[in-house]
Amino acid sequence: MNPVTLPSPAGPGLELRNRAFIAPMCQYSVEAEDGVPTDWHLAHLGAFAAGGFSLVTAEATAVEARGRISARDLGLWDDSQVPAHRRITDFVHSQGAAAAVQLGHAGGKASTHPWLPGAAEGTVPASDGGWATVGATDAPVLPDLDAPHALSEEELGLLVQAWADAARRADTAGYDAIQIHAAHGYLLHQFLSPLNNTRTDGYGGDERGRTRLLREVVAAVRAAWPAHKALGIRFSGTDWVDGGWDVDATARMAGELVREHGVGWVDLSSGGLGGPAAIPVGPGYQVSLADHVRAELAGTDAVVSAVGLIHNAMQAETILATGQADAVSIGRAALRDPHWAAHAASDLRVSAADSPAADQYWRANW
Ligand code: FNR
Repeated sequence: MNPVTLPSPAGPGLELRNRAFIAPMCQYSVEAEDGVPTDWHLAHLGAFAAGGFSLVTAEATAVEARGRISARDLGLWDDSQVPAHRRITDFVHSQGAAAAVQLGHAGGKASTHPWLPGAAEGTVPASDGGWATVGATDAPVLPDLDAPHALSEEELGLLVQAWADAARRADTAGYDAIQIHAAHGYLLHQFLSPLNNTRTDGYGGDERGRTRLLREVVAAVRAAWPAHKALGIRFSGTDWVDGGWDVDATARMAGELVREHGVGWVDLSSGGLGGPAAIPVGPGYQVSLADHVRAELAGTDAVVSAVGLIHNAMQAETILATGQADAVSIGRAALRDPHWAAHAASDLRVSAADSPAADQYWRANW
């Protein structure tokens, strides 16, 4: 797990101590109000930094209030949210790790209740704290969700500005990298995929039209985000549905964003729009998507990360050593063991002196 650098248009880029990243994971933390991170988020994300990960990515963080997946999500739509994010980035930095934030908008998949075990599926009604959702079209994104309001071209202009404003706040909050959330059936993916985007205006139709909003968001974020800081994107590399968004379209889009729009990090997840998807869930089942996109990005210095059921150090090291990805993003394995990266270093025979484990824990090696 050697160091790796996320490139940026200016400066040396973001140097990371190893290739184990934390995947963004919403906490639906019951104390989170108005998008403001709590002590839980500090402890949760801080543990991964102390646990040896090189890049700690904060959960899907909404660029506007109605873009939250749930009322318990984090946000960067208001300046008042910045100081609590700053506490997290300061601690992550103190542990030798870098901090990223995933900026997102849930679109027609917003206003849900995922933090409540056994809660009803579907859109939360206004009477229960929910709100009206927006989307690429007025068709429900999934069968159990309410119909969103289809965003007009004028409204899309305001939304792009909201992404830029959130990027500016992410800078003030001390984040080193932004990951734009274009995956999992949320708003940007809703525009990318022909499964959901049946618009007939300039934001729909052919691939150029369906990718227009993403291109505009990336350009606006890049312009608001310092040139020396890294910008990344998470795609659903495929809908796993014939006629849906697929890995070839992902590779074309990733190539354009890296070569022309200053994106330096591409993370490959999949799915999220439902349909008759046949998803081959199993160890490393999304790695081939990273491999495919990495081949398209040959000759660039972009970093491609793989994610999804990557459990242990040997599996991760094999993905890296065989050149299928430049880095691994770890989710649930890190929830089980926040010190996964330090333990992986130990499994891979990294010397105690070079271990990314927290200095305070050096006695663990006695
Ligand atoms: C997630 N995932 C996720 N993905 C994302 O893009 N933004 C998010 O905020 C979240 N939130 C989230 C919460 C929780 C509790 C889990 C378990 C997952 C998906 C996550 O980033 C990752 O892609 C998957 O979990 C697959 O990786 P693992 O868990 O198999 O390593």
